[in-house]
Amino acid sequence: MIIIAIDGPAAAGKGTLAKRLAKTLKLPYLDTGLLYRATAKRVLESGGDPTDPLAATAAAWELSETDTARKDLRDASTSMAASQVASIPAVREALLAYQRSYGSANGAILDGRDIGTVIFPQADVKLFVTASVEARAKRRQLELDGKGQHLTLAEVIADVAARDEADRTRATAPLIPAEDAILIDTTNLNADEAFAHALAIVKEKAAL
Ligand code: DC
Repeated sequence: MIIIAIDGPAAAGKGTLAKRLAKTLKLPYLDTGLLYRATAKRVLESGGDPTDPLAATAAAWELSETDTARKDLRDASTSMAASQVASIPAVREALLAYQRSYGSANGAILDGRDIGTVIFPQADVKLFVTASVEARAKRRQLELDGKGQHLTLAEVIADVAARDEADRTRATAPLIPAEDAILIDTTNLNADEAFAHALAIVKEKAAL
């Protein structure tokens, strides 16, 4: 059973990389950001405030697979609200057991912010994927363009930078590389290069 933790800031390409590794290594993949996004969406849709600990924690405990399967979890307002609910310790607590049991069953690749530090400190391989804020914002802008959401680069940079700041400076489970994480900077790598690099690291670390 192998656990691969992939952490890093917003829009660093963690999801693309994790999905590809999961397919190649035949491992289940969990995008843990979806849990926070779906929690935020539940709060927003019930007219609640994502910074309200009671409302956000209740939403996290009520989460079901239909919530995380929704297609509209990646818009900018949900992203910021996800970052807000994620700063509430009781929300993180509510989502912890699900993440651990997901990985413990058959091994898995999980991506997020605290997988290598909090959820699976014993992960076999820990990658911390990052890139300059400009590079990340450009990729996110392209992705949003493809969905018909046209934002200026300045708007996307502002969104990504605000979320990074909130995720890095929160008191509980802040975005920080685990001591034994291997850094992958994808600023000057395309998706194929990032994948090849990550796969080589995984093979070496996990002796696959
Ligand atoms: O990975 P993402 O952009 O979909 O995550 C959305 C927000 O959820 C992110 O800004 C911070 C939070 N998050 C978290 O705090 N811990 C995780 N393991 C995953 C996401």
